[in-house]
Order: sequence, then C-alpha cells, then structure tokens
Amino acid sequence: MSKVKIGILGAGGIARVHTNILKRDERVEIIGIADISEERAASLAQEAGQATAVKTLEELFDLGVDAVYVTTPNTLHVEPVLKCLDNNVHVFSEKPMATSLAEAAQIREAAARSSAIYNLGMNRRYAFVYKKVKEVIDSGELSPFLAHIKMNRGELLNPAWTSHPEITGGYLYETPFHLMDMCRYLFGEVETVYCEGRQNISTSEIDTFAIMLTFTSGTIANFVTYAHAGWSFPFESLEVYGKYSTIATQELEKVMYSPGLNQPSQLSDFFQLSTEDKWGYVEEDRLFIDAILEGTKPPVDAEDGFRSIQLLEAIYESAKTGKHIDFREKV
Ligand SMILES: NC(=O)c1ccc[n+]([C@@H]2O[C@H](COP(=O)([O-])OP(=O)(O)OC[C@H]3O[C@@H](n4cnc5c(N)ncnc54)[C@H](O)[C@@H]3O)[C@@H](O)[C@H]2O)c1
Repeated sequence: MSKVKIGILGAGGIARVHTNILKRDERVEIIGIADISEERAASLAQEAGQATAVKTLEELFDLGVDAVYVTTPNTLHVEPVLKCLDNNVHVFSEKPMATSLAEAAQIREAAARSSAIYNLGMNRRYAFVYKKVKEVIDSGELSPFLAHIKMNRGELLNPAWTSHPEITGGYLYETPFHLMDMCRYLFGEVETVYCEGRQNISTSEIDTFAIMLTFTSGTIANFVTYAHAGWSFPFESLEVYGKYSTIATQELEKVMYSPGLNQPSQLSDFFQLSTEDKWGYVEEDRLFIDAILEGTKPPVDAEDGFRSIQLLEAIYESAKTGKHIDFREKV
C-alpha cells in the first residue's frame, strides 16, 4: 500500500508535536512543510526527514500531498481548510474549527461536498484521564448528575498572538475550547447556557467567565475559566458527581475515581507517560490516518466541530447580553 503523503501548514509548536508522531508512523510520509517563515519551515522539514520546505498551501498541493495538517494560528484555519476540502485533500485542522459560526457552517458544508476527510484536532478526547471519565459514564457505572469544570490559563503572552482576539477569535477559542468539546463529548448536547463574564486584566477582551450549562441528558454543570491565573496546578480539572460517586481529574496527569460509599478510591497517575501519549496526540493522529486508509469515521468530524463553535458563541452571547440561551430553539 502506498504511503499517505502529508503536508504541514504552519511550522510552530503544535506542528512539531504532530511531526514527531507522524514520522514514526510507517503508513505515512511527510513530504512538505509550509510556513511564512522560511527558517521555521526549513527547520521542521529537516526534523521531518525528507520533507521539502515551502511557503504556501498551493506549493504543498504542487508537491502532491494527500492530506494537510493545518497548524497556523486560530483565525487562519478556515481558508486553507476550505481550499483542502475543495481540492479533495484530506485535512486535519488544529482547534478551533473556526472563530465564527458562519465560518464553521462554511466548513461543515464544504466537508459534506468533499470526498476528502475533515478532522478537528480535539486531542483531549484521547488523553488517558478523560478516557477513564468517558468509560465510567458510558458504562453506566456513574450517572453524571453534576459536573464542575475548570480550565484556566496562566497568561495570554505565549505565543504572542494569544493576546490578540483578532488572531485567537477570543480567549474562549484558546484552551477553553478543549473542555467545551469535552463537555459535549461526556454529557451530550447542551440545552441551555448562561454566562457571567468580566474583563479584568486583558485590555482587549473578556478574560473571566462563570458559565452554567444544562444538557439534554439531564446533567447540569458549572464551568469556570480565567485567562491570567498564573499556571497554578492543576489549571485544568473536571469533577463529575453521580450517586455516592465522584470522578475527578487533575490536569492530564491524574484521575481519582471514588465508586461508592465504603469503597476504596482508585487513583490512576499518568505522570510517567510522554506528553504526546498522555495528552492524546498519538491516538488522534493514528485515528486520522486510519480514517484515510481504512475508511473509518474520523475522530471529530465537521458536524461535531460546528456544535462546539455553536456552544462557544452562545457563551459569548450570554456574557455580552446577560441572556439565558436556549439551544432547543437553535437545533
Ligand atoms: N490541540 C492542542 O493541544 C494545541 C496545542 C497548541 C496549539 N494548538 C493550536 O494550533 C495552532 C497553532 O498553535 P502553535 O502554538 O503551534 O502556534 P505557533 O505560533 O507556535 O505556530 C504557528 C505557525 O504558523 C505560521 N504561520 C502563520 N501564518 C501562516 C500562514 N498564513 N501560512 C503558513 N504559516 C503561517 C507561523 O509562522 C508559525 O510558525 C493554533 O490554532 C492553536 O490553537 C492546539
């Protein structure tokens, strides 16, 4: 079987993570790395092995890529993703899918028209701590009545573009987007949203959010996220409560499951694993290549991605207007 020829657009931090994983996959050949910075493209191309360093997506197409990883900053995902889908080139887009509902809808339509696969990089679904939470919920061991979610950031300074909402799409499109997707993945579709938002440290955007969510499954949740907490551990955590039971994560390192009264808790600690494995990148990359070669469902398709953008936009709408948003009117 011939190898899947991969191109990578945007040779920054996360591109390096995917490159290191993909170059170990024998089913794959990284043939091109594109970046507006020649130096970055050349440096990652050298790490990738036999890849050619170029500047644009069109040059990756000219090299004959079968699939492209779009790893440019947030607001620069939509245009290359649409070009890939229109040219029937498989595309792995880093999160977020888009930074507006209209653009997310454009991608959803293009993905439906295209013969190529669209996949959104929601790596946390494959992180060991969250796989454990998913397992106890889906098996029926724990019925999730209530959840308490925290997704803080330390600062919006690194990469420098993270403090510019015109490039990020807004703070929620940064790391909080991961746990918005996780909420939907674990508890199902959202029914109502209410958010109190404040602008405390940032000069250009809301950076402090207290969010209340209800789900059609019956779960209710509160979600707090703050952009300038200073990286105090754990900046990311999820606690889910069932009948006399709790499952609680700390970052992507540890998960504690307390299954019932008078029973010992189970603690799983993934500290020793590599970040690539622990954070779910290895599995999401493997599943994307499986989807290309074996016709399996891509890990997170365009419909799924669209619904997370819909949730995120509803949170902003509620923060700005003070309204409760009812999703039953939107579906
Ligand atoms: N899933 C995750 O865990 C995760 C982690 C980090 C970043 N991300 C996402 O990945 C994306 C990239 O983040 P990063 O931290 O690697 O950023 P980065 O700043 O390190 O890298 C971005 C690269 O894109 C290049 N670039 C910018 N505009 C370009 C263009 N028009 N054409 C080609 N190249 C261009 C830049 O020169 C830079 O090398 C972001 O959308 C971010 O949200 C996801």
